[in-house]
Amino acid sequence: MREGRTDVQAVKERIDVAAVMSRYLSLVKSGQTLKGRCPFHKDDTPSFVVSPEKGLWHCFGCGEGGDLFAFLMKIERISFPEALEKLAAEAGVVLKRRGDGERDELFAITAQVAALFSENLHRSAEGEKARQYLLGRGFAAEAWERFGLGYALPGWDHVKGAFAKRYGTKVLTDLGLLVESKGTFYDRFRDRVIFPIVDLTGRPVAFGGRAFDGEPKYLNSPKTPLFDKGRTLYGLSWAREAISAGRSAVLVEGYTDVLSLHLAGIPHAVGSMGTSLTQGQADLLARFADEAVIAYDRDAAGGAGALRGMTILRNSGLSVRVARLPEGDDPDSLVRREGPARVNELVAAAAPFHLFYLDSLKDRHDLHTHAGKEGTLEEARPFYQGVASLPLRQEIAGHLAGLVNLPLERVMEDLASRPSRQAGATEPSVERREWGEQEVMLALMLRGRADGKKVFSLVSPEAFSEAYRPIAEAMARAADPADLAALMVDLDEESARLASYLTLAPVEFSDAEKALDDALAKLVTLPAIERRLADVREEMKRTEASGDRTRIDELQGTYRALVVQKLSRRKTDGNRQEERPA
Ligand code: UTP
Ligand code: MN
Repeated sequence: MREGRTDVQAVKERIDVAAVMSRYLSLVKSGQTLKGRCPFHKDDTPSFVVSPEKGLWHCFGCGEGGDLFAFLMKIERISFPEALEKLAAEAGVVLKRRGDGERDELFAITAQVAALFSENLHRSAEGEKARQYLLGRGFAAEAWERFGLGYALPGWDHVKGAFAKRYGTKVLTDLGLLVESKGTFYDRFRDRVIFPIVDLTGRPVAFGGRAFDGEPKYLNSPKTPLFDKGRTLYGLSWAREAISAGRSAVLVEGYTDVLSLHLAGIPHAVGSMGTSLTQGQADLLARFADEAVIAYDRDAAGGAGALRGMTILRNSGLSVRVARLPEGDDPDSLVRREGPARVNELVAAAAPFHLFYLDSLKDRHDLHTHAGKEGTLEEARPFYQGVASLPLRQEIAGHLAGLVNLPLERVMEDLASRPSRQAGATEPSVERREWGEQEVMLALMLRGRADGKKVFSLVSPEAFSEAYRPIAEAMARAADPADLAALMVDLDEESARLASYLTLAPVEFSDAEKALDDALAKLVTLPAIERRLADVREEMKRTEASGDRTRIDELQGTYRALVVQKLSRRKTDGNRQEERPA
């Protein structure tokens, strides 16, 4: 990017990451890296790893991570510009700010693009599909107007065609409106219903685009000079008055949840845009509210990402309650079917976070077994120890004793004890994700063991899943994909956590070239073979009907060859990574 990239580079070059971090925690050398106890969660093994050489940190206990800016933002509770200013002053770098005039232009462009999308929805012929879709979901024309909804036309260059001549492709790409792939630029949003994301003063800064049935369901603007998903709550400008008035907010996942609640007269609803709520979002909410009531759908609420988010909210000083929605409902579907009174009732009855958390332990541990009971106590121990209030601790212990069916005194004794860790274990407690081809490929590039330029000449960032796409996109458009310092500044909070994890995780590649080949095969070659196989199957069906024997034989030959190709690609997938002994 974008926002003062050269300033950021200059600062990073002059600052000693380890020296700055050592003011906040003590770090001990361990090979190429430094280790310490994480300042962001109750850490009893040193799970916090810093690589001074790469300028990154990651906690394998709580999953936080990123570059030095992310560290300062989190530990000092400051914004990116403030962190930059602080470090620049220390490094003696004079900041060349993006001028107000320049920012005004970015706002103006975004507003014009929002107007174009809205025009498409209201008046274009292609927009009929979007109009029917929204009406079918109960969003009438007044709602399109009120929330600025729009439609991005099918095709690759409507936004580009309308604005590139006047403003240039660079600034449109910086705003996330165009995507660059292999040297060409095209529209990010194509054939999608558009939900503009507005800032606190109501100006559009980014877009969420819903597919009619394709993948991903929602495509969002990446981090831009105007927008950082990790510091934005969808709908906050519409909800802030109501939230301030009652000092309470209803936190939902989705765009449509926010809109439906507002339309139904529940004005203090805001959206976290997915369940992985960030520190930046929690801090933002804490400016207006004292309490957050989580209203996620039932499966999502118990997920690891959601629990993490709720813990972040709690640590930001908010009191947190969790509403229990009926199975299969989200706030949008619930309010449409049963009306606002029912939603208000569930919000009023929402359980305090600690009770919800204790209840969720049942889903992760089998309480009929000894191992399950041990696991429950093990997991609950840091939670219990993190609670300051004696009566609350007593209540939590009581619940746990009931869960594991053991005497209260023994359970309290166990909860108060130091954790029972096996010697030398540095087992990451949250980040135990499976490594597939996407993780391998990104990790190789992040670690400078695969050439990013080459990879992205073979595979499009769109081949990556929702979670990893922002990292892939940032790498694909980077001047130098191996420049970690520049890359990290382009990433939102959530993506930065993932990137630091992939870079610093104790996973070794004995043969980087082979690992990359295998990963490429899975991400590019195999899907291509699958598509060819499907085509051939289709044609075989048609040809069988026509009875053309020679063509059928030919097709069967092709089919067999493709299957052989597919199997041989699979087999090369041997042991491609080993856990480094701790
Ligand atoms: P959901 O999958 O719950 O969708 O995602 P939804 O909000 O109920 O959407 P509808 O009602 O089917 O249209 C919740 C939120 O997570 C983010 C979006 O902000 C979405 O509103 N999300 C979800 C994405 O960013 N990308 C996705 O692919 C899916
Ligand atoms: Mn929904």
